Amino acid sequence: MSRIVYVNGNYVHEEDAKISIFDRGFLFADGVYEVSSVLRGKLIDVEPHLARLRRSLQALEMASPATDKEIKAIQEELIVRNQVEEGMVYLQVTRGVADRTFHYPEGVAPSLVMFTRSYDVIDIPKAKSGISIVTTPDIRWGRRDIKTVGLLAPCMAVMIAKAAGADDAWMFENGYITEGTASNAYIINQEGTLITRHLGTEILHGVTRNIILNLAREENIKIEERPFTVEETYLANEAFFTGATAIVIPVVKIDGKPISDGKPGPVSKRLRKLYFEKILSEIN
Ligand code: PDD
Repeated sequence: MSRIVYVNGNYVHEEDAKISIFDRGFLFADGVYEVSSVLRGKLIDVEPHLARLRRSLQALEMASPATDKEIKAIQEELIVRNQVEEGMVYLQVTRGVADRTFHYPEGVAPSLVMFTRSYDVIDIPKAKSGISIVTTPDIRWGRRDIKTVGLLAPCMAVMIAKAAGADDAWMFENGYITEGTASNAYIINQEGTLITRHLGTEILHGVTRNIILNLAREENIKIEERPFTVEETYLANEAFFTGATAIVIPVVKIDGKPISDGKPGPVSKRLRKLYFEKILSEIN
């Protein structure tokens, strides 16, 4: 079935959606994006995602294509038009269309593109089985806190994982895990402390990360926001990652080594459950 997508003011069938070859998103990856999940036909965590969009735009001195209210209205319209019950809305802002030049062109209107995708978010096999990951050097640029569409390095990391027979990758720098290809990374050590990298320019400031850390605090789980090594992951009691579409996914194998007994751990499972309880209670 052809989706209805949004392109610069118009709702069109996906096959009719058009963007210029001179769009700077296409030529320079000069664009930023956000992904928000949809549950029971409702957009979730929309405010923090839009706040991060503002932050990304600001960091790149990129004009905003619309107000938060307008963006949210378009997202909601797409959910209705495509009858999305569970899934996601993707939104992308690029600097706009200009002849190829390295400096930011002046007086150019930004492009705004959005589309939806329907799939199960809550009841997914990966959440029950956990997944396997490999670790691989983080070859991305130095401003990973900006959510840009320049995603070739994480695509390459996923392909490295695939070649090794694993599901996904965690990236490391100077021996320390930065984050997953499209997620924030966590371990729980032998003492039951939840460890995840501190915020900085080395990782994306995950919306789901913030919510999950708050839930962990409410559960009186000890939290350390600090870099952790690849070796620490092998010795962990549990490992998991978070992201807007994954929410919480347990990691059961890292670089071919089973984590603990090789099954999803209780804390990962509990945090995933608590997240959905919180979000679904807010929807109703
Ligand atoms: N990715 N780190 C990276 C590199 C990411 O790309 C993402 C999200 C996250 C998690 O952030 P959040 O909880 O705000 O989704 C961390 C999205 C889902 C994607 O690219 O599809």
